[in-house]
Amino acid sequence: METRPWTSGEPTRSPFVLPSGLRGRLAGCFMFWTNRQDEVVALLGVRPGEDVLEVGYGPGAMIRRLAGTPAGRVCGVDPSPEMRKMARRHALRADLRLGTAADTGFGDAEFDCVVSVNNVGIWPDLGAGLDELRRVTRPGGRVVIASHGGRRSTMLARRLALPDDKLDRIAHELCRRFSGVTRRDLSDLTTFTAHRR
Ligand SMILES: C[S@@+](CC[C@H](N)C(=O)[O-])C[C@H]1O[C@@H](n2cnc3c(N)ncnc32)[C@H](O)[C@@H]1O
Repeated sequence: METRPWTSGEPTRSPFVLPSGLRGRLAGCFMFWTNRQDEVVALLGVRPGEDVLEVGYGPGAMIRRLAGTPAGRVCGVDPSPEMRKMARRHALRADLRLGTAADTGFGDAEFDCVVSVNNVGIWPDLGAGLDELRRVTRPGGRVVIASHGGRRSTMLARRLALPDDKLDRIAHELCRRFSGVTRRDLSDLTTFTAHRR
């Protein structure tokens, strides 16, 4: 499988970008154990009964944590069948589907909270992804987008951090679609929180 992330414009077959086959499963194991998600769960602050969607769930580290919150529904979309198999093991009750940021397959305004960790930089079309995230978020709901970086406390976060011009573009495109856009630098992740009017 090949894709062309908006951040580079170059085609890639990296197993971390679109995991498939044995390399994809190995990449999934690596991501499961190394990608940190706890600070994002705290930032999300899921309230009892809220419906939550994760975009690009990968091997399921965040889905597993979301299943431990008082959320109503926990749903996810990711284009990789390999990742779906891995993520399902961690949260049997979560509704995990194949799909992309630009085409989640969910209905209008289904979610109180939409989160995406470490994949905004690999979407082929940033604007199309954000349009879709806005569409599936309820008025008054929030979107949290996180990517490697933050205060860069690990070598991995330093290596994979998005450059400032790409972070500025994400902030700009979010401001065009949402209100109250706030950037926070966590230990290893740069996050943007945005609210749907
Ligand atoms: C680097 S992994 C991150 C996985 C997980 N969120 C984490 O932090 O461990 C990127 C994930 O994004 C998924 N992905 C690739 N293209 C995507 C797209 N256009 N929309 C949503 N997810 C995508 C991949 O299948 C992969 O599971």
